[in-house]
Parts: sequence; C-alpha cells; structure tokens
Amino acid sequence: MRILGIESSCDETGIAIYDSERGLEAHTLYSQIELHLEYGGVVPELASRDHVRKTVPLIKQLLAESGLTLADLDGIAYTAGPGLIGALLVGAGIGRSLAWSLGIPAVAVHHMEGHLLAPMLEAEAPAFPFVALLASGGHTMLVQVEGIGQYQLLGETVDDAAGEAFDKTAKLLGLGYPGGPAIAKIAEQGTPGRFRFPRPMTNRPGLEFSFSGLKTFAVNTLAESAGDDQSKADIALAFEVAVAETMAIKCRRALEQTGLKRLVLAGGVSANRRLRQRLAVLAAERGAKLYYPRAEFCTDNGAMIAYAGCARLMAGQSEGLVIQARARWPLEQLSAVT
Ligand code: KG4
Ligand code: ZN
Repeated sequence: MRILGIESSCDETGIAIYDSERGLEAHTLYSQIELHLEYGGVVPELASRDHVRKTVPLIKQLLAESGLTLADLDGIAYTAGPGLIGALLVGAGIGRSLAWSLGIPAVAVHHMEGHLLAPMLEAEAPAFPFVALLASGGHTMLVQVEGIGQYQLLGETVDDAAGEAFDKTAKLLGLGYPGGPAIAKIAEQGTPGRFRFPRPMTNRPGLEFSFSGLKTFAVNTLAESAGDDQSKADIALAFEVAVAETMAIKCRRALEQTGLKRLVLAGGVSANRRLRQRLAVLAAERGAKLYYPRAEFCTDNGAMIAYAGCARLMAGQSEGLVIQARARWPLEQLSAVT
C-alpha cells in the first residue's frame, strides 16, 4: 500500500511517500523559517498562506522525482491536529479532496503520534511496548506505548513545552528562531559549571514537567551577568544541561514505574545532542535501550505522517468525506490499531 503523507501543522510543509512493502520511498520538506524569522516566532496567518503556496507544487515535484503519478497512490494521510488550525486546514483540505478525486481512502493523523512513530522509519526500530518522551515546540509528555494507538499518558508539562522554553530563552539571549538549535550552538562555547539552573519538579514524586521557571531563571541570570557573549553561552549551556538532566530524572522514573526497558525520544527537541547523550547514559545505567529518529525526522516532516497513516490505513481505518482539523486533540483519544 503506497501512501502520500502531508504535514502542515505549523511552519513546515512536509510531503512523503511511504510504501508498506518498500518502506520510505521519497520525502521532501519546505521550511518557512525565513518567513517568520523577522517576527521572532511563527505568524499563523502567514504560515497558512505559505502552505497554500507550497503543498500542491511539492506533491507534484515529489511524485515526478520518484517516477510516480497520482494513480500509483493507494491512500492519503494528512496531519489533522494538534497545531495551528489554519495551517492544518490547508493540508487537510488538499489531502482529503485529492483522495476523494482519486477514489482512494484518506486518514487523519495525530501530529504527536507521527512524532512518536518516527523512530519506526529507522533500520533499528523499537519494538512495543516502550516509554516515549515526546518533546516538541507545543508538547512535552511521557507516554507508555503498548502499540499503535495504545497510549497511556504518564505525565506532561504543566506550563511551557520544552521546545517553547528553548525558543523563549533563545529570544531573550538575542538568538534567532527556532531557539533549540541556536541555544545548542552557542552552548558549545559555554563554561561548564559557571551557572547552575534548577531541575524543576524533580524534588517531588511524579512525572510532570514545568519549564517556564527556567526561562525566568535565564532572565534573572542574564540581568546579573555582564550580558556579554561568554555569559550568554554560559547561560545557554546551563539551561541545556538543566533540561537534559530534568528529562533524564523523569525518564528514569518512568522506566522504573513501568518496568520497561525501551525508551523512545522523539519530537523537535529530540534533535538535541546533549539530551540524547544524557538519555543514552541513563539507558545504559538501567540496562535499557534508547531509540530516536535521524535528525531530520526529529522535527516536523511528512515521512512520520505517511508512516502513521499507512499503519492505520493498513488496519482498515479511514475517514468519511470530512475534512478533519483540530487545534487540540488529546493523544489518548486515538483508537488502537490491532
Ligand atoms: O517537533 P517540532 O519540529 O514542531 C512541533 O511539533 O512543535 O519541534 C520544534 C521545536 C522548537 O521549539 C525547536 O526550538 C525545538 O523543537 N528544537 C530543538 C532542537 N531542534 C529543534 N530543541 C533543542 N535542541 C535542538 N537541537
Ligand atoms: Zn512537531
């Protein structure tokens, strides 16, 4: 079964073709970063308009480059949420109508399920069950995963998402958007141990996260420092270490609580090298194995949507003649693929 995947939940138009027999056949991504750069964050209306401009040309281009035509598609998967509603509606509208015109099924994919399953695109894919730490610009959660669509939320952030904290802290340090890669870059020049940021919510039991305090801590630390480039690098490093350490503490608890030996790290923040290294140490200590997607599939992409959609379509799931788009959509509401 050959599936076209369309991702348009935020500031990236991702298109991919996934085949149940052959695996990932092709994928392409158009990032709107340049467009939003001058505003210091994503402007929803500009994002929607750019998805309108890019989605159809990218689908045509990807098919042509793959030597395929629309007639070779057996189904279409599009991101239906959570995300920016206008942006979602573009991919959903195009995906659902294209499927209708071709007489093939369409499936509405949950963006975070896409992230969660992205490591399945790698040669060494995790087997079920596993614990997943999903950390993106909009979400941070620990999930116990028994199978596709069988998700039990173990804990999530009570305020900012981890990616959001990276973005806000980067902004106050005068770095560009998105903040995660910018912070990671200057943190390489940071002096280890000069500043120590708190590890929020680790001195009490539970698997909840809180990241908004780190941003405030960064504001205050910056104000007390000389505000020079070295101080900024030192703050970036202390911030990054605090996020990685906090996540490692929560992941250890989640592995202990569930007794599971596989840990999956996914979502934009999973591209962070320091976090990966820290969680690799944790996994080694616990005799567990750590899985994460290749860097380009950590952040938003069409491949993860095509993969998740393919799994659901193969199981006979599809939508009727409706265009699904939901700004909010709890992960636990998904149906199991059995
Ligand atoms: O998954 P994603 O592409 O989009 C959402 O679903 O939100 O995640 C984007 C987030 C942004 O907040 C970005 O700053 C963060 O992931 N990010 C990183 C890194 N690369 C992207 N955070 C830390 N380190 C990175 N290398
Ligand atoms: Zn995402």
